[in-house]
Amino acid sequence: MAEWTRVASLAECPAGTLKGVMVGRQPVVLANVDGDIYALEDQCSHQEFPLSDGELDGDDLTCIYHGARFDVCTGRNKGLPAVRPVKSFPVEIRDGEVFVEV
Ligand code: FES
Repeated sequence: MAEWTRVASLAECPAGTLKGVMVGRQPVVLANVDGDIYALEDQCSHQEFPLSDGELDGDDLTCIYHGARFDVCTGRNKGLPAVRPVKSFPVEIRDGEVFVEV
């Protein structure tokens, strides 16, 4: 069953950056797009390397391993070699803390 978990403080997720966290056994990458936090599974849909090693440009996340691109707000795949989306998770900010529902 999905539940909310505190994963980081807002201060740990500056604008324009990615941060990998674990929620139980689920790797999650947090992305700060102009002050809004998004959460995706931290596993590229191409070969399962961590997306948190990638680069964020606006809402565009590029996997550094082979260049796949994703919409960080939705998990939608936008560029080859990824042909499948990655899962996205709901995010809430409570008193400066980031919570993810996994
Ligand atoms: S593992 Fe991400 S593009 Fe290949």
